[in-house]
Order: sequence, then C-alpha cells, then structure tokens
Amino acid sequence: MKYKIAVIPGDGIGPEVISEGMKVLNAAAEAKSGLKLEFVEFPYGAEHYLKTGELVSEDGLKKLSKMDAIYLGALGDPRVQTGVLEQGILLKLRFYFEQYINLRPIKLYPSVPCPLKNKGPEHVNFYVVRENTEDFYVGIGGRAKGKSRAKLEVLRSIYRVKFGLDIDVDRDEIAYQIGVVSRKGTERAIRYAFELACKKGKKRVTSVDKANVLTHVYSLWREVFEQVAKEYSEIETEFAFVDAVTMWFIKNPEWYQVVVTPNMFGDIITDLGAMIQGGLGLAPGGNINPEGVSMFEPIHGSAPKHAGKNVANPLATILAGQMMLEHLGEEGIADKVERAVIDVLKEGKVRTYDLGGKSNTSEVGDAVVAKVKEIA
Ligand code: IPM
Ligand code: MN
Repeated sequence: MKYKIAVIPGDGIGPEVISEGMKVLNAAAEAKSGLKLEFVEFPYGAEHYLKTGELVSEDGLKKLSKMDAIYLGALGDPRVQTGVLEQGILLKLRFYFEQYINLRPIKLYPSVPCPLKNKGPEHVNFYVVRENTEDFYVGIGGRAKGKSRAKLEVLRSIYRVKFGLDIDVDRDEIAYQIGVVSRKGTERAIRYAFELACKKGKKRVTSVDKANVLTHVYSLWREVFEQVAKEYSEIETEFAFVDAVTMWFIKNPEWYQVVVTPNMFGDIITDLGAMIQGGLGLAPGGNINPEGVSMFEPIHGSAPKHAGKNVANPLATILAGQMMLEHLGEEGIADKVERAVIDVLKEGKVRTYDLGGKSNTSEVGDAVVAKVKEIA
C-alpha cells in the first residue's frame, strides 16, 4: 500500500520532533515490503503566518483533503498573539476535517519514571476518548456592556446552529462563552469509545463530565451515554465527575480502561494523564475522523524555549506516527514501532533530559530506527 501523508512541522520544537518521527516512519516503511509512504510538507505555522498573513489557505485545505493522513508537529509561537495559530490552524483543521475523536492513550511504558508511588506499567494503561469538535471549543461568545445584540453561529456538517442574543447588562462588563453539545456529536464520540473498548479488550467505559453543575450540556451527554451503553451490555459503565477523576487518576489509575469525555475536560485530564505516563514527552494523540482525514500529533506544545536545541523528546511524535500507521490499517508494522520504542526505553541508554538522560533529539530517533530495523 502507498499512503500520502501531509506533514505540518509547525513551530518551536515541532520541526525537530517531526523529522525524527518521519525517520522512524521511513524505517518502518522500508522494513515492510509493499508499504510506501509519501510525505508532502505544508508550511503552516508562525513563520508562514508572519510572512504571508495566511493561516491555512482554501487551496491548502483542498490539498490536505486528498491526503491519507496528516502528521503534525506543534503550533504556537511567542511572536504571535496567543490563540491565533492554535485556533486558526490546529482547531481549524480539527473542525474542517470533522475529526470528532481525540484519542489519547495513557500508557506507562517499562523503565519510564512515573511520579506516582508504587505504580508501574501494569497500573497505567487506558485510553481517553475526547470529543474533539464541540463543547466550549466551538468558539462562540462575546463581551457586553449595557444593551446589545449578538448573532452567533456554529457551522458543522452535522448541524448549523444560530443564536440571536438580546443582551441587557445593568452595570459593569460581562463576558460569555457558549458551549454546544449535540446529540449526534455526543453519540458518535461515545459510540467510538465503546467500540474501542471492544476492540482493545477493555471491560469498562467511564463517562467523565460535570453534570452536577453544567446541567444543560452534560445532562444531554449523560442521556446519550446511557442510550449507547445499552447496546454494549458486556461492558461495565460508570459516570464520574471531572474533579473527582483528577483525584482518582492519581490514586487509582489501574481502575480506568476507556474514559470518554467532552472536549474541554478531555483537554485538561489528558495533560494529567501525560504526567502519569512519564510526561508530555511520551504522550501522543490522534484527531480522528473514521470516515475522513485524520491527524496525528504529540499532545505537547511547541515549547519555544527548547526550540532549535535538539533536546526535545521525540518519542511522543514517534508514537503519534505509530498511531497513524495503526489507523491506516498497518497494525503489524505499527506494533513493531511501539516495540522499538519500548526496547529503547527499557535499555535506558538513549534518553532525553526529561527522562533523566543526556541524549539529544536525533539520537533518540536514531536509536528507535535501529530497533525498528532489528525487529522488523
Ligand atoms: C491540545 C492543545 C490544544 C487544545 C490547544 C493548543 C488549542 O492543548 O491539543 O490538547 O486545547 O486542544
Ligand atoms: Mn491540551
């Protein structure tokens, strides 16, 4: 099989980690006869924006939609106002390609230092399925003082919703942000979580929300969860509040198997998840549209202070590449990439600073490549 992969190296450490990821993917492709990867680079990020004023062009979106997947480094740059690149590129792509799942495995690999006392790889091994297109991420809201009107709109392929607001604030200034959760959007995310549980042999799905306070949006979420759960009687289910979950991830990570959660809580608890799996340097994610173009990235940011120094840990990006191979249906070679990462970690000779080592970014990439060649 031949796959066309769009590569967006992006900002900060993005280009450094993505080039290690490509190195490993190339080694994987070489190791499997008949597997071919063609990488097509896209320049989106701070540099391109500052030079041209363009975030992602219409033409770029058209080209991206012809790709089999997107491999993304990181976005964000201190020279650009916070949020511009994140919303204009990262969220734009997630929404445009309707990547309604953000799949984030929370897996502690052997020999990786874990900040939790007495917890090892057998205790930290679950998936967070984060709904990736709705909730408080739809980006509508505003500020108001006195009397005003506002028209807000969310445009999705599964619905279009318009809010006409007639605002009257009696004193001071207010700001508001509207979260939207749709029945269909919720259902497809929750169904994905149950299907994932079946596929991965997991026995429990936990719904994480805050239905005790944000009653409108998350009571709909819960209703849909209960409906979908009925179709999977062999899978145990539970509800948990997001505040409690931050506590339980630390105290009892072994309880969790598949967690499904709305967008914003998913963002927050997966940074916590990253820490219990050994840090952001090891945490990959996939923005998935099972019927469309999916995008794989490390969940860390662009870490401007480390940019250009060849010190960042490329393993999160390499593991994102592994998820991409699996998503494309290349499970066999994806497994080998994961095994190669595990072997490098177990040997412990080649590690970046965040894991207590002295190796640089490219040395870690080289070590994984060598292992891939050995295993495959
Ligand atoms: C993530 C990031 C993004 C998010 C930002 C950069 C918009 O934190 O992928 O987790 O909030 O989803
Ligand atoms: Mn995040």
